[in-house]
Amino acid sequence: MKKKITIAIDGFSSTGKSTIAKLLAKKYNYIYVDTGAMYRAVTLYAKQNNFVGKDFLDKEELISSLKNVSLSFCFNADLGFAEMFLNGINVEKEIRTLEISQLVSKVSAISEVRKKLVAEQQIMGEDSGVVMDGRDIGTVVFPNADVKLYMTASADKRATRRYKELIDRGDKVDFKDILFNVEERDRIDSTREDSPLMKAADAIGFDNSDMGINEQLERICALVDRKL
Ligand code: DC
Repeated sequence: MKKKITIAIDGFSSTGKSTIAKLLAKKYNYIYVDTGAMYRAVTLYAKQNNFVGKDFLDKEELISSLKNVSLSFCFNADLGFAEMFLNGINVEKEIRTLEISQLVSKVSAISEVRKKLVAEQQIMGEDSGVVMDGRDIGTVVFPNADVKLYMTASADKRATRRYKELIDRGDKVDFKDILFNVEERDRIDSTREDSPLMKAADAIGFDNSDMGINEQLERICALVDRKL
């Protein structure tokens, strides 16, 4: 039997990490963990409880309430991926709004939040056979991952992808707000003190600005197959 490995995919927002991760998980019959969804769910919790808003962050209150935050994924066979549940409620749709995208980098810069989520992610991936995407998977969560990818694409391409996703699901958004959010998150996520987004020394860089899904998948599967 082939061995099971750990695949870590990091990169800026909307670089297509989750699309590739889902396809890889399906092909190899691995579990897929979207760690961004976990940070988004904690952000939704913080927003619902008034711990975070456009101009404020009540860090202490959020930290002391973290014990009340329970996150879980539940596989939806119709969609083909696991949806995010916050305290038993499906929040998959709510966590993808522009408003949550505008708050999430503030919340995910808090060390106590990261400590909790990283510990949960390490448990989810401890048996290997996992594809995990995020910002710190190859550097912090699984520094010994067998395959590490670092995805990049131009901010304009990424904002265009995100804009289309939000429009397709019926959200009313302006392209310039999406572009601003993408660039602002790039800045905060890569300059924060705790676990900033960076390419692990042994990660393979992947610029997919002008690469279709099939070509990406083909190249990445070749890397994965070499490790199996
Ligand atoms: O992958 P995403 O765009 O859904 O992630 C949302 C935010 O969550 C991202 O801007 C930063 C944060 N994040 C993080 O800090 N660490 C991770 N491993 C995943 C996401």
